[in-house]
Amino acid sequence: MKGILLAGGSGTRLHPMTIAASKQLLPVYDKPMVYYPLTTLMLAGIRDIMIISTPSDLPQFRRLLGDGARLGLRFAYAEQPTPDGIAQAFLIARDWIGGEACALALGDNLIFADHLSALLQEAAARPRGATVFAYRVRDPERYGVVSFGADGMATDIVEKPHNPTSNWAVTGLYFYDERVCDLAASIRPSPRGELEITDLNRLYLEEGTLQVDRLGRGCAWLDAGKPDSLLHAATFVQTLQERQGLLVGSPEEVAFRMGFIDREALRAEANRLIKTELGRMLLDVVDHT
Ligand code: DAU
Repeated sequence: MKGILLAGGSGTRLHPMTIAASKQLLPVYDKPMVYYPLTTLMLAGIRDIMIISTPSDLPQFRRLLGDGARLGLRFAYAEQPTPDGIAQAFLIARDWIGGEACALALGDNLIFADHLSALLQEAAARPRGATVFAYRVRDPERYGVVSFGADGMATDIVEKPHNPTSNWAVTGLYFYDERVCDLAASIRPSPRGELEITDLNRLYLEEGTLQVDRLGRGCAWLDAGKPDSLLHAATFVQTLQERQGLLVGSPEEVAFRMGFIDREALRAEANRLIKTELGRMLLDVVDHT
């Protein structure tokens, strides 16, 4: 399975911070925002990852992430000239995906949960259909919202409804089978002019192959798209890391734990960051795992 990290858009809700910088490269405590969804894809076992961003921001992502070899990954890069919708990622990446199954992670979404890796690998292993994750929120009207029937199966999915029929928001992490590019090519722009990811998900729902996994109350799903949510995400990461002494969203650590790199490669990564607490915490992983 391949993975896309979508990190474009204009970040207008974070102006003026995002006038000269990409939103997904802003810091969330001690790491660039994009590290968090990157580690989510890695925890699913995905090593081939395409980063899609704006023509002006893409060079900064290349500078940060390189070709991925140091982490045992293979990064590809592609431009999205204008933000014409999340589902457009599958039209941009079509040739690179090459008829495989593909996951998509939004570059401003952070998911934290115990046993997340097992949940993600299960989603990645499903041979047919799509898997999305739903999370209970107080303000569902800001998101894609999914409703459930009495049997617990998803019955409807609507983008930013004025009158939401449930509190279950669809998170920015999606797993699709190998038909995804064809299905994405069949959807039309919404009234706001975007190829909506919710319309793609609805195609799977109507076919009866959309699996909606509900994330429970022990999970955190944060999107860092506004000043307050950016601060909440940073405080969340800081609290966990300082209290437990364990890292959240470190691609270096995840690469090691997933077996993508060995202990010596992790030591080299830790040494590159040795002037930081992050580097010292990585050395701790090298020496005590
Ligand atoms: O965060 C989860 C939500 O993400 C879902 O519940 C919604 O169903 C989904 O539509 C999306 O809603 P948002 O209002 O958050 O979408 P937004 O336009 O803010 O885009 C999300 C991220 O994707 C953002 O970081 C920018 C990036 N993006 C977006 C579009 C439309 C792109 O890179 N290219 C695009 O064309």
